[in-house]
Amino acid sequence: MLKATLLKAAASPTLKRQVTNNPVAWRVARRFIAGDRLDDAERTIRELNGAGMSVALDHLGENTESQSQARGASAAYLAALDRIQDGGLDANISVKLTALGLDLGRDLAAEEAAKVAARGKEVGAMVGVDMESAAYVDRTLDLVASLEESYDDVGVCLQAYLHRTPADLERLNGLGIPVRLVKGAYREPPEVALQRKADVDAAYARLLDVLVRDNAYPMVATHDQRLVALTKSLVARHGRDRSTFEFQMLHGVRRDLQAQVVAEGYRLRVYVPYGDQWYPYFMRRLAERPANLYFFVSNLLKR
Ligand code: FDA
Repeated sequence: MLKATLLKAAASPTLKRQVTNNPVAWRVARRFIAGDRLDDAERTIRELNGAGMSVALDHLGENTESQSQARGASAAYLAALDRIQDGGLDANISVKLTALGLDLGRDLAAEEAAKVAARGKEVGAMVGVDMESAAYVDRTLDLVASLEESYDDVGVCLQAYLHRTPADLERLNGLGIPVRLVKGAYREPPEVALQRKADVDAAYARLLDVLVRDNAYPMVATHDQRLVALTKSLVARHGRDRSTFEFQMLHGVRRDLQAQVVAEGYRLRVYVPYGDQWYPYFMRRLAERPANLYFFVSNLLKR
């Protein structure tokens, strides 16, 4: 119930204005977000690289409403890729197709995504495509499949809570496209997605087996300790070398677990968002864990 309310609030322009202009909210959000500038992101990447962790860099933004915003988003990614190359950073990037204009038409998003993927290929950095709400899945997968044909190193996220995901995973495995498996962070109806956490966890475990066995480069994105342990045993069972898959976790979440998997010699990539469009991302992180909301509210009250 609380989760659903927070996810609904993530789409409210009024709340967005109030929260974004609130300095206490920004202080709390900073746990999850590197900062609002590329320089902040670079500082965080260097710290994480120093600790043996790679990075997936996310320039925050989604559901852009004009062509110029979409072009601005792709320009930000091109600047990020330049920075990765010039700074010798161990990082790739993660993009949302609605930031690149998918709501305004497939052609615009395809054009902007192609610019980013072409530069990613030159830099040698994978372009990972985030998965947004269920309405975008078909368009996202089709666009990713066509990008992959021309630019090779393009991956995509699949959400375990969607009923359709087993079939999507099979298709992507067949196409040789790297998949990041997550539980899913949006509000979806029962016809489209599993609703109970225990069911989502079980679906994730089933998909993980297929991912580890058949995917070109599995990206296991979870902070769920049991699923991290399951991955380790599946990798051993399917004879996967440690250089052919990675764990992924979010900046600011379960730093203890992040350090542990690195100490055990596994690859870990931390997803690092930066930029000033942080409101919906922050609301999804609050929705994932009620304790975050209590922390946020108690900080507001302390002011
Ligand atoms: P679960 O929610 O069961 O959490 C396991 C444990 O992790 C919790 O008990 C808690 O300790 C900790 N934890 C989890 N979330 C936390 C939080 N916000 N704050 C503090 N502690 C927390 N989703 C999506 O729909 N599309 C996408 O493209 C992506 N991309 C993505 C990339 C990466 C690298 C990750 C790790 C996750 C995503 N997600 C995502 C988000 C994903 O769908 C999911 O909502 C979160 O990862 C939380 O689920 P867990 O698997 O961590 O399990």
